[in-house]
Amino acid sequence: MADPARTTSRGTEDADELQKQLDPQRIPRHVAVIMDGNGRWARKRRLPRVAGHRAGIDSVREVVETCGRIDVSVLTVYAFSKENWKRPKTEIDFLMDLLREYIRKELDELHANRVRIQVVGRPHELPPIVQTELARAIEVTRENTGLVFNIALSYGGRAEIVDACRELIRDGVRPEDLDEAGFARRLYTADQPDPDLVIRTGGEMRVSNFLLWQIAYAELVVSDVLWPDFRKRDLFRALLEYQRRERRFGGLSPREAVEGSPALVQG
Ligand code: FPP
Repeated sequence: MADPARTTSRGTEDADELQKQLDPQRIPRHVAVIMDGNGRWARKRRLPRVAGHRAGIDSVREVVETCGRIDVSVLTVYAFSKENWKRPKTEIDFLMDLLREYIRKELDELHANRVRIQVVGRPHELPPIVQTELARAIEVTRENTGLVFNIALSYGGRAEIVDACRELIRDGVRPEDLDEAGFARRLYTADQPDPDLVIRTGGEMRVSNFLLWQIAYAELVVSDVLWPDFRKRDLFRALLEYQRRERRFGGLSPREAVEGSPALVQG
């Protein structure tokens, strides 16, 4: 039987047809993406792993452009996790170069499209030359009012929670003064809506230390498509799957609430 948490890799519909099926009133405000499968994409083609990362840039470009066009407010992509520092130095160096190249080549167009670039994670752990490039992109796009594009770099969900706790302690916040909203304001995503939808490509059913606090009520859609093959039709498929879901945030659906109401039960 088809697994409803997964979107199938390919169908016959094209992107325009899929987009027409979307309900424009129910576009998620925040979409977060775990871009997985670059290595497998390269292996299938007998190419080095890094060729998969490079090919993945085309998917980044298309997803950013499409999210901006359909009025998603925030897009977060998991570009480099804290755990990724364990990869071979050559692969890390390649990823850092790729990131710089991406910013250098795309910044003008992102800026023209009013995209605001942000980094979530521990950017101070990145090579200084990458930090400089990112700081420039953040500064140039600071006033933009379109899509907020969070690039998660040297990011770990647990580390983010620890960083928030450190800040609270440093600021001398008293335990009795702390609530969930106050905690969320110390996260890297302060002032942003929580993700409504997490898309993971590459077929694995894991959250991999990604936005642990923020995805408490997010819908998770796993796509079997490997990241370098992920295109707007696959994004639309994930959005359609999201729109089919009923979000209850721990409560009841409107129908269940009516069926279960004492007035009705008692007649
Ligand atoms: C996971 O695939 C992917 C990454 C660790 C890196 C993702 C980076 C990019 C797509 C490029 C840089 C991004 C931006 C925003 C410019 P994997 O290597 O773990 O794949 P596998 O599971 O098939 O081995």
